Amino acid sequence: MKILCFGSLNIDLVYKVDEFVKAKETIASISMEKFCGGKGLNQSIALKRAGSNIYHGGLIGEDGEILKIALKNANVNVENVRLTQTKTGNAIIQLDKHGQNCILLYGGANEAITKVDVDIVLENFEKGDYILLQNEISCVDYIIDKAYEKGMIIALNPSPMNDRILGYALDKISWFILNEVEGMALTKSSDIDRVLDKMVHKFPSAKILLTLGEKGASLYADGEIYNREIFETSVVDTTAAGDTFTGYFLSSIMQNKSYEKSLEIATMAASICVSELGASNSIPKLSKVLSRLDCKAD
Ligand code: RIB
Repeated sequence: MKILCFGSLNIDLVYKVDEFVKAKETIASISMEKFCGGKGLNQSIALKRAGSNIYHGGLIGEDGEILKIALKNANVNVENVRLTQTKTGNAIIQLDKHGQNCILLYGGANEAITKVDVDIVLENFEKGDYILLQNEISCVDYIIDKAYEKGMIIALNPSPMNDRILGYALDKISWFILNEVEGMALTKSSDIDRVLDKMVHKFPSAKILLTLGEKGASLYADGEIYNREIFETSVVDTTAAGDTFTGYFLSSIMQNKSYEKSLEIATMAASICVSELGASNSIPKLSKVLSRLDCKAD
């Protein structure tokens, strides 16, 4: 069984600031660093570091070779990462003194993916293979339809949330991994305590993992609910924490770990990720995650 992550590849420019810049303001940043990111790339690397055999699908421009190299160095299969004429996607990230971020995206090559590109990539996969998607590339609706037709198991992290998602055939999704904002938008609910129930009602055959920030995460699967608390840590940068959680959780599930164990591993991986600066570079190796869990158990 293979797993394909068909998703975005971004060059992240991270500006450290005391407070986010406001309208009409010009402020100086404390520092600027460049990282390999994009929700797709981050999730592929998290899956690989968690122990999965992962294939990445996506597009970069001529200025994006660094992203392909980062995936290759992480031992992600890059046969389906192709070059296009459009500029590579990028993200301008402001990081404040509390470790919170705000992100401005330029889709670039990520938004240049066509139905033909999708067909070429999906030819290499078959019934029973997994596909992980986010919402940072074009043609997600088409990918969902085609992957479903093939009998692939589809996991969706509906991030970043926008109206486009509401038009996707979401009844074809087997796994939703989403946060509070995405959950509230998908269920049109302003009460976070009702989101999981509403998601289950709306997508009865799906498994649903809802992350709740400081309150941890709740998973609905096979008629049961599993709750998981966070591991306390000092926050340096939350960028890619959700991606780390998604990749680690899915990889653990695919390795037939229990729901409880998969949640524990994903939570620890995300907690290590937020304690370091950057995107894909702050995704921990499995050995580090397991040794931290061992320390907790002692
Ligand atoms: O989830 C974090 C990612 O979101 C960043 O790496 C940035 O590229 C944006 O896609």
